[in-house]
Amino acid sequence: FPPEKVRNFSIIAHIDHGKSTLADRLLEKTGTISKDALNKQFLDKLKVERERGITVKAQTASMFYTHNGEKYLLNLIDTPGHVDFSYEVSRSLAACQGTLLLVDACQGIQAQTVANFFLAFGEDLFIVPVINKVDLPSADPEKVSRQIEAAFELDTTNILSISAKTGLGVEKVLVDIVNQIPPPVGDRSAPFRALLFDNWYDQYVGVVCLIAVRDGTLKKGDKLVSAHTGNTYDVTDLGIMYPEQQTTTSLHAGHVGYVILGMKTTRDAQIGDTFYKEGSPVKAFPGFQPAKSMVFAGLYPMDAADYTKLQEALDRLTLNDASVSVARESSSALGQGFRLGFLGTLHMDVFRERLEEEYEATVINTSPTVPYIVRYTNGQEKVVRNPAEFPELDEHPKIAAFLEPMVAGTLIFPSQYLGTMMDLCGSHRGEQQDYTYIDDNRVMMRYKLPMSEILTDFYDQLKSRTSGYASFDYEEIGFEASDLVKVNILLNSKPVDALATIVHRSHAERVAKEWAKRLKNVMSKQLFEIIIQASVNNRIVCRESISAVRKDVTAKCYGGDITRKMKLLERQKAGKKRLKTVAGGVQLPQEAFLTLMKGS
Ligand code: GTP
Repeated sequence: FPPEKVRNFSIIAHIDHGKSTLADRLLEKTGTISKDALNKQFLDKLKVERERGITVKAQTASMFYTHNGEKYLLNLIDTPGHVDFSYEVSRSLAACQGTLLLVDACQGIQAQTVANFFLAFGEDLFIVPVINKVDLPSADPEKVSRQIEAAFELDTTNILSISAKTGLGVEKVLVDIVNQIPPPVGDRSAPFRALLFDNWYDQYVGVVCLIAVRDGTLKKGDKLVSAHTGNTYDVTDLGIMYPEQQTTTSLHAGHVGYVILGMKTTRDAQIGDTFYKEGSPVKAFPGFQPAKSMVFAGLYPMDAADYTKLQEALDRLTLNDASVSVARESSSALGQGFRLGFLGTLHMDVFRERLEEEYEATVINTSPTVPYIVRYTNGQEKVVRNPAEFPELDEHPKIAAFLEPMVAGTLIFPSQYLGTMMDLCGSHRGEQQDYTYIDDNRVMMRYKLPMSEILTDFYDQLKSRTSGYASFDYEEIGFEASDLVKVNILLNSKPVDALATIVHRSHAERVAKEWAKRLKNVMSKQLFEIIIQASVNNRIVCRESISAVRKDVTAKCYGGDITRKMKLLERQKAGKKRLKTVAGGVQLPQEAFLTLMKGS
């Protein structure tokens, strides 16, 4: 297939607007998969993907389609369905020339549609808008097409209205892909150059890399060099995803396919990297970024004896997800553990769920934090990934500024919620940039927000205050100076390291009081008096106390059965072993931490 007979495209859509259904229907219409295979694909999804209705790992597939007697190779390059993966999305888009912008005919444009549109626009892709779910009684394709014109200034005269579910209009989608999306430009005789845009770990063959070949030809036995690491690899297998791996003799300019290079970990296969052949270096593709963690959390085994087991589980999981960073850390309250870095909160949740399945034991997570930058007066900078590393007060005179990561957020919602949405963003230190009506009663609002503000309750509040009608998406826009302080929780005057947080000064007292209260609640049964305090930059802002309650486990025994009494006392002793001295001589069961952190 020469480049003019190839089309590389993706589908971008808001969650649940039907991306997977359309992808499956295209594969089915082109005879790439049978109906039975469809069900299997759905069942294979991760639990968290099913529960949240999102796709985490992309599924790329090739198909053959004949139009006007000509045979075409269509490569569907799937993109991960969430903002946490926006870098991965942008690299997948860089491998395409066009994209289908899929919008639900009932729900209309949502925040993720907007974010994805701008990513595709930034990659100069040809955008084909498609309205889906027109089979539904509440579908309003005319209204949605007006929204598409208003928000994206796209021509909607011949817009496709389809039902991915029933198959209505799907044939026309294939025709539009062929007729409208430009073929890839590439030169078969030029030195080989390919973009690495996706990878995964396969237990039998090692790392599988998906590449988009820009120029040249690749064959089994060739030697490839990674422009980023400089490492050289032998091509042991290559081919196309049809829809599973199918070996071919070669991949040419314009093609999209997989290569197996004997890599042992996905850390070697960095998304956005460029491959060239040994001896003929080429210019790397622009836009490469190493994986960048934006959310950090401590992870500790509930039972210290499980530390090695936890480490092994982490090693296994990071083989397949190199975007998670892992560093050892220790805490006086929680013992030996790890500090993990994630691309975002969803990425963190997905990883935790995989870890639970893999590790089969309970872990304690500390509350998530964003990275902060400390800029010293001498120009040096330090990144703080754990509140425990926040500079002590005596260091503050040497500090010029604290910086925190910011995001540009897009919110789309029915106009009756304008007041409550402005209130929500305002209380999360948001700064309004602009707002537009994308139709008679839907508003699109843009806010600049600190990333830390959207880590915890922002999304839940957004949904609950609008009965689920608001959508939100964001992109990172770098760091800005901020008035940050450290909140400590103290037990008998000693700070509990695992409970320290970094917050904006305006939230400090509220956060301090909340944590002190929460700690009090999980500690209610204690054998001697304990003082809980919270401090903001070492200034005590609240105090709670727990009075001594004698916990007599034998009280229910009414004196009679002495063996039963002995048994209970034994059990109490065993229970005490799991207690840990947390701070200030105070002992806390690890379970209390678990309860405490669950609420964060
Ligand atoms: P993620 O990839 O998980 O983000 O979601 P998605 O955009 O792929 O959505 P998916 O294809 O999983 O579809 C979401 C829901 O919409 C499913 O219950 C589909 O059955 C349904 N759906 C998709 N297309 C249509 C359609 O044309 N008509 C109707 N009635 N339902 C549809």
